[in-house]
Amino acid sequence: MSAASHRGADGDRGAREPGVITFDGPAASGKSSVAQRVALALGIPFVSSGLLYRAATHLVARSGTDAGDQDAVLDLLGVHVVDLRPDITGNDVLVDGRSVTSQLHTDHVDAVVSTVAGHPDVRAWVSEQLRRVPPPFAIDGRDMGSVVFPEARHKFYLTASAQERARRRVGERAADLAAVAAAIARRDEGDARQLAPAADAVHVDTDGLDLDEVVERVLASIRASDAGSAPSDARAVRS
Ligand code: DC
Repeated sequence: MSAASHRGADGDRGAREPGVITFDGPAASGKSSVAQRVALALGIPFVSSGLLYRAATHLVARSGTDAGDQDAVLDLLGVHVVDLRPDITGNDVLVDGRSVTSQLHTDHVDAVVSTVAGHPDVRAWVSEQLRRVPPPFAIDGRDMGSVVFPEARHKFYLTASAQERARRRVGERAADLAAVAAAIARRDEGDARQLAPAADAVHVDTDGLDLDEVVERVLASIRASDAGSAPSDARAVRS
Protein backbone atom coordinates (compact mmCIF):
# COMPACT_ATOMS: atom_id res chain seq x y z
CA MET A 1 0.00 0.00 0.00
CA SER A 2 1.46 3.31 -0.99
CA ALA A 3 -0.17 5.15 1.91
CA ALA A 4 2.09 5.47 4.91
CA SER A 5 -0.43 6.36 7.56
CA HIS A 6 -3.95 5.51 8.60
CA ARG A 7 -6.12 8.24 10.05
CA GLY A 8 -8.89 5.99 11.34
CA ALA A 9 -11.87 4.61 9.45
CA ASP A 10 -13.74 7.87 9.74
CA GLY A 11 -10.84 10.03 8.64
CA ASP A 12 -10.44 13.50 10.06
CA ARG A 13 -13.78 14.47 11.50
CA GLY A 14 -13.99 17.82 9.76
CA ALA A 15 -17.41 19.08 8.69
CA ARG A 16 -18.79 17.02 5.79
CA GLU A 17 -15.50 15.10 5.46
CA PRO A 18 -16.83 11.92 3.86
CA GLY A 19 -14.30 9.62 5.56
CA VAL A 20 -14.81 6.02 4.46
CA ILE A 21 -17.96 5.14 2.51
CA THR A 22 -18.56 1.40 2.23
CA PHE A 23 -20.53 -0.45 -0.45
CA ASP A 24 -21.21 -4.11 0.17
CA GLY A 25 -23.58 -6.59 -1.38
CA PRO A 26 -23.86 -9.77 -3.40
CA ALA A 27 -22.43 -10.41 -6.86
CA ALA A 28 -23.82 -8.20 -9.64
CA SER A 29 -25.67 -5.94 -7.22
CA GLY A 30 -23.94 -2.97 -8.86
CA LYS A 31 -21.84 -1.98 -5.86
CA SER A 32 -18.65 -1.40 -7.81
CA SER A 33 -20.30 0.87 -10.42
CA VAL A 34 -22.20 2.74 -7.72
CA ALA A 35 -19.12 3.15 -5.51
CA GLN A 36 -17.11 4.49 -8.45
CA ARG A 37 -19.81 6.97 -9.43
CA VAL A 38 -20.34 8.16 -5.85
CA ALA A 39 -16.58 8.58 -5.43
CA LEU A 40 -16.46 10.62 -8.62
CA ALA A 41 -19.38 12.81 -7.51
CA LEU A 42 -17.68 13.48 -4.15
CA GLY A 43 -14.20 13.92 -5.64
CA ILE A 44 -12.68 11.14 -3.55
CA PRO A 45 -10.79 7.96 -4.57
CA PHE A 46 -12.56 4.67 -5.23
CA VAL A 47 -11.03 1.50 -3.76
CA SER A 48 -11.82 -2.01 -5.01
CA SER A 49 -11.10 -4.44 -2.17
CA GLY A 50 -11.58 -7.42 -4.50
CA LEU A 51 -8.41 -6.43 -6.36
CA LEU A 52 -6.28 -7.46 -3.38
CA TYR A 53 -7.88 -10.92 -3.35
CA ARG A 54 -7.30 -11.04 -7.09
CA ALA A 55 -3.64 -9.97 -6.69
CA ALA A 56 -3.08 -12.72 -4.10
CA THR A 57 -4.69 -15.18 -6.52
CA HIS A 58 -2.47 -13.94 -9.35
CA LEU A 59 0.60 -14.62 -7.22
CA VAL A 60 -0.71 -18.10 -6.39
CA ALA A 61 -1.22 -18.87 -10.08
CA ARG A 62 2.12 -17.41 -11.15
CA SER A 63 4.06 -19.46 -8.63
CA GLY A 64 2.12 -22.71 -9.00
CA THR A 65 1.10 -22.57 -5.33
CA ASP A 66 -1.82 -24.68 -4.09
CA ALA A 67 -4.63 -22.13 -3.61
CA GLY A 68 -6.12 -24.31 -0.88
CA ASP A 69 -2.94 -24.17 1.23
CA GLN A 70 -3.42 -21.10 3.42
CA ASP A 71 0.13 -21.16 4.84
CA ALA A 72 1.66 -21.33 1.37
CA VAL A 73 -0.49 -18.40 0.22
CA LEU A 74 0.55 -16.39 3.28
CA ASP A 75 4.22 -17.20 2.62
CA LEU A 76 3.80 -15.72 -0.87
CA LEU A 77 2.21 -12.58 0.54
CA GLY A 78 5.13 -12.26 2.95
CA VAL A 79 7.72 -12.51 0.18
CA HIS A 80 6.13 -10.21 -2.41
CA VAL A 81 5.20 -6.55 -2.06
CA VAL A 82 1.59 -5.93 -3.12
CA ASP A 83 0.73 -2.27 -3.55
CA LEU A 84 -2.86 -1.16 -4.22
CA ARG A 85 -3.00 2.37 -5.61
CA PRO A 86 -6.49 3.84 -5.45
CA ASP A 87 -7.52 6.74 -7.61
CA ILE A 88 -10.66 8.57 -8.65
CA THR A 89 -10.52 7.02 -12.11
CA GLY A 90 -9.49 3.48 -11.17
CA ASN A 91 -7.17 1.28 -9.17
CA ASP A 92 -3.73 0.01 -10.05
CA VAL A 93 -2.16 -3.00 -8.33
CA LEU A 94 1.61 -3.39 -8.31
CA VAL A 95 3.43 -6.58 -7.36
CA ASP A 96 7.09 -5.99 -6.59
CA GLY A 97 6.87 -2.64 -8.36
CA ARG A 98 5.19 -3.89 -11.57
CA SER A 99 1.57 -3.30 -12.48
CA VAL A 100 -0.44 -6.54 -12.68
CA THR A 101 -3.86 -4.86 -12.92
CA SER A 102 -4.49 -6.04 -16.49
CA GLN A 103 -3.96 -9.66 -15.38
CA LEU A 104 -6.43 -9.70 -12.50
CA HIS A 105 -9.69 -10.38 -14.36
CA THR A 106 -8.75 -13.54 -16.22
CA ASP A 107 -10.96 -16.66 -16.22
CA HIS A 108 -8.35 -18.43 -14.11
CA VAL A 109 -8.29 -15.73 -11.42
CA ASP A 110 -12.11 -15.69 -11.48
CA ALA A 111 -12.18 -19.44 -10.94
CA VAL A 112 -9.68 -19.55 -8.05
CA VAL A 113 -10.17 -16.24 -6.21
CA SER A 114 -12.98 -17.45 -3.96
CA THR A 115 -10.75 -20.26 -2.64
CA VAL A 116 -8.03 -17.73 -1.80
CA ALA A 117 -10.57 -15.27 -0.33
CA GLY A 118 -11.93 -18.05 1.89
CA HIS A 119 -8.76 -18.25 4.02
CA PRO A 120 -9.24 -16.28 7.27
CA ASP A 121 -5.58 -15.25 7.43
CA VAL A 122 -5.67 -14.00 3.84
CA ARG A 123 -8.76 -11.97 4.76
CA ALA A 124 -6.83 -10.52 7.72
CA TRP A 125 -3.95 -9.61 5.37
CA VAL A 126 -6.33 -7.84 2.97
CA SER A 127 -8.01 -5.99 5.85
CA GLU A 128 -4.64 -4.79 7.09
CA GLN A 129 -3.71 -3.45 3.63
CA LEU A 130 -7.03 -1.64 3.29
CA ARG A 131 -6.83 -0.04 6.72
CA ARG A 132 -3.61 1.66 5.64
CA VAL A 133 -5.35 3.62 2.90
CA PRO A 134 -5.81 7.22 4.06
CA PRO A 135 -9.46 8.37 4.00
CA PRO A 136 -11.49 9.73 2.37
CA PHE A 137 -12.45 7.03 -0.12
CA ALA A 138 -15.39 4.94 -1.29
CA ILE A 139 -14.76 1.20 -1.16
CA ASP A 140 -16.64 -1.82 -2.44
CA GLY A 141 -16.55 -5.41 -1.25
CA ARG A 142 -18.45 -7.95 0.80
CA ASP A 143 -17.48 -7.13 4.37
CA MET A 144 -16.25 -3.53 4.23
CA GLY A 145 -18.91 -2.09 6.55
CA SER A 146 -19.25 -5.12 8.79
CA VAL A 147 -15.62 -6.20 9.37
CA VAL A 148 -12.97 -3.97 7.83
CA PHE A 149 -14.38 -0.48 8.49
CA PRO A 150 -17.01 -0.93 11.23
CA GLU A 151 -16.55 2.74 12.22
CA ALA A 152 -17.27 4.10 8.72
CA ARG A 153 -19.81 6.92 8.86
CA HIS A 154 -21.62 5.96 5.64
CA LYS A 155 -22.33 2.32 4.88
CA PHE A 156 -24.45 1.00 2.05
CA TYR A 157 -25.65 -2.51 1.36
CA LEU A 158 -26.88 -2.92 -2.19
CA THR A 159 -29.34 -5.64 -3.08
CA ALA A 160 -31.31 -6.69 -6.14
CA SER A 161 -33.35 -9.77 -6.91
CA ALA A 162 -31.49 -12.72 -8.43
CA GLN A 163 -33.46 -12.19 -11.65
CA GLU A 164 -32.53 -8.51 -11.86
CA ARG A 165 -28.86 -9.24 -11.19
CA ALA A 166 -28.84 -11.94 -13.86
CA ARG A 167 -30.55 -9.55 -16.29
CA ARG A 168 -27.85 -6.93 -15.68
CA ARG A 169 -25.11 -9.47 -16.30
CA VAL A 170 -26.44 -10.82 -19.56
CA GLY A 171 -27.78 -7.57 -20.97
CA GLU A 172 -29.79 -8.42 -24.05
CA ARG A 173 -28.96 -12.14 -24.15
CA ALA A 174 -32.22 -13.34 -22.69
CA ALA A 175 -31.45 -16.97 -23.55
CA ASP A 176 -28.63 -17.01 -20.99
CA LEU A 177 -30.77 -15.70 -18.15
CA ALA A 178 -31.46 -19.00 -16.39
CA ALA A 179 -27.81 -20.13 -16.48
CA VAL A 180 -26.51 -16.78 -15.27
CA ALA A 181 -29.12 -16.66 -12.51
CA ALA A 182 -28.03 -20.13 -11.36
CA ALA A 183 -24.34 -19.09 -11.38
CA ILE A 184 -25.14 -15.98 -9.34
CA ALA A 185 -27.09 -18.09 -6.84
CA ARG A 186 -24.06 -20.40 -6.48
CA ARG A 187 -21.77 -17.39 -5.88
CA ASP A 188 -24.19 -16.06 -3.26
CA GLU A 189 -23.89 -19.40 -1.49
CA GLY A 190 -20.08 -19.37 -1.71
CA ASP A 191 -19.87 -15.79 -0.43
CA ALA A 192 -22.54 -16.25 2.27
CA ARG A 193 -20.09 -16.10 5.16
CA GLN A 194 -18.81 -12.67 4.06
CA LEU A 195 -22.16 -11.32 2.99
CA ALA A 196 -23.89 -10.44 6.26
CA PRO A 197 -24.63 -6.70 6.13
CA ALA A 198 -23.40 -4.35 8.84
CA ALA A 199 -26.21 -3.70 11.34
CA ASP A 200 -26.02 0.03 10.63
CA ALA A 201 -25.81 -0.16 6.84
CA VAL A 202 -28.33 1.68 4.68
CA HIS A 203 -29.97 -0.95 2.50
CA VAL A 204 -30.66 0.09 -1.07
CA ASP A 205 -32.91 -2.19 -3.08
CA THR A 206 -31.82 -1.43 -6.63
CA ASP A 207 -34.52 -3.46 -8.40
CA GLY A 208 -36.05 -1.36 -11.13
CA LEU A 209 -33.56 1.50 -10.67
CA ASP A 210 -30.91 2.49 -13.17
CA LEU A 211 -27.36 3.44 -12.14
CA ASP A 212 -28.09 7.19 -12.07
CA GLU A 213 -31.07 6.65 -9.78
CA VAL A 214 -29.12 4.46 -7.34
CA VAL A 215 -26.24 6.96 -7.24
CA GLU A 216 -28.66 9.80 -6.59
CA ARG A 217 -30.32 7.90 -3.73
CA VAL A 218 -26.96 7.14 -2.16
CA LEU A 219 -25.85 10.77 -2.44
CA ALA A 220 -29.19 11.92 -1.00
CA SER A 221 -28.75 9.52 1.91
CA ILE A 222 -25.24 10.85 2.57
CA ARG A 223 -26.49 14.44 2.44
CA ALA A 224 -29.40 13.64 4.76
CA SER A 225 -27.14 11.83 7.20
CA ASP A 226 -24.61 14.68 7.19
CA ALA A 227 -27.46 17.15 7.79
CA GLY A 228 -28.55 15.09 10.78
CA SER A 229 -31.81 13.80 9.34
CA ALA A 230 -32.90 10.33 8.29
CA PRO A 231 -32.81 9.51 4.59
CA SER A 232 -36.14 10.45 3.04
CA ASP A 233 -36.13 7.76 0.40
CA ALA A 234 -38.34 4.76 1.19
CA ARG A 235 -35.91 2.32 -0.40
CA ALA A 236 -32.98 3.48 1.70
CA VAL A 237 -33.71 2.49 5.26
CA ARG A 238 -31.50 1.52 8.12
CA SER A 239 -31.66 -2.21 8.74
O1 DC B 1 -15.38 -7.75 -6.25
P1 DC B 1 -14.53 -8.76 -7.03
O2 DC B 1 -15.33 -9.58 -8.02
O3 DC B 1 -13.32 -8.18 -7.66
O4 DC B 1 -14.03 -9.78 -5.91
C1 DC B 1 -13.18 -10.84 -6.23
C2 DC B 1 -13.36 -11.97 -5.23
O5 DC B 1 -12.94 -11.60 -3.94
C3 DC B 1 -14.79 -12.50 -5.09
O6 DC B 1 -14.75 -13.91 -5.20
C4 DC B 1 -15.23 -12.14 -3.72
C5 DC B 1 -13.95 -11.87 -2.98
N1 DC B 1 -14.08 -10.71 -2.10
C6 DC B 1 -14.28 -10.95 -0.76
O7 DC B 1 -14.40 -12.10 -0.35
N2 DC B 1 -14.35 -9.89 0.10
C7 DC B 1 -14.24 -8.64 -0.36
N3 DC B 1 -14.32 -7.61 0.50
C8 DC B 1 -14.05 -8.38 -1.75
C9 DC B 1 -13.98 -9.45 -2.59
